[in-house]
Amino acid sequence: MGIQFKDVSFMYQGIKENYDALSHINLNIEENGEFIAIIGHTGSGKSTLVQHMNALLLPTSGKVNVLGQELPPQKKEKINHLRQKVGLVFQFPEYQLFEETILKDIMFGPKNFKSTEEEAMEKAKKAATIVGIDPELYEQSPFRISGGQMRRVAVAGILAMEPKILVLDEPTRGLDPKGRKDLMKIFKDLHEIEHKSIVLISHDMDIVSEYAKRVIVMDQGEIVFDGKKEELFEHPDFDKFHLELPTSLKILKHLEKEIGLPYEPKYDFKSLLSYLKEVDYE
Ligand SMILES: Nc1ncnc2c1ncn2[C@@H]1O[C@H](COP(=O)(O)OP(=O)(O)OP(=O)(O)O)[C@@H](O)[C@H]1O
Ligand SMILES: [Mg+2]
Repeated sequence: MGIQFKDVSFMYQGIKENYDALSHINLNIEENGEFIAIIGHTGSGKSTLVQHMNALLLPTSGKVNVLGQELPPQKKEKINHLRQKVGLVFQFPEYQLFEETILKDIMFGPKNFKSTEEEAMEKAKKAATIVGIDPELYEQSPFRISGGQMRRVAVAGILAMEPKILVLDEPTRGLDPKGRKDLMKIFKDLHEIEHKSIVLISHDMDIVSEYAKRVIVMDQGEIVFDGKKEELFEHPDFDKFHLELPTSLKILKHLEKEIGLPYEPKYDFKSLLSYLKEVDYE
């Protein structure tokens, strides 16, 4: 079933003027097996787009279908359950922590979606284990742990609802390199082991190139590219997207230019290193 957008436009209604944040979006996201990165300059409509995926925003025109349910034109119909099915982790999700203890905070989502206290606790503990929050921390205040841990607690709060699709709005922003890597490993495992579809907004091209399979590029409310990452980074008109190349590809292009090393795209540092070790050149 997945998520489909058909000719979707969205306008923010301001007091003085309206703003067209999305125009004529067509998109199809499978329920399983996708790892999609959404990239594009600030203000290009990425967050607005993903907020349609769990019915936080409703389209001004066009149709959005989420897991078999078409979003209504107004918030009159019951659509809250879609927030459980499509888990959205906001930018800086730790700002939304509020309970007295870490465990209670993670339990909030499942309880809200009608799990009993025991069920919610079980789901919360499972989610805490996935994100690597130690049981010793369960009864601590979520405000007394490190930024990286707070981020993981917030992610656990979404995972505890057992969403079918996970949508992440710049999940690694503001984290140090280790925090970034640890968090991306969690998403990678959810994708590879549970085959969950992941939609990830990111400005970090190294993360996009290492983890995503498919990339959607947004520009001024429109999708200007949607395809495999290999197609994007090897696109003959890559420059017209005004995007940075990932570091591994920059290094390879540089080495080709400076010392004639044969260019072969590698999308993460590990495969770059093994290529450099093995490549045969004079
Ligand atoms: N609540 C709002 N009211 C009015 N305009 C808004 C609102 N939220 C966003 N916008 C405008 O809509 C456009 C798209 O915003 P959006 O937040 O979706 O962009 P983005 O691609 O996520 O940017 P960023 O990379 O900075 O997070 C921007 O021009 C923004 O100023
Ligand atoms: Mg945004």
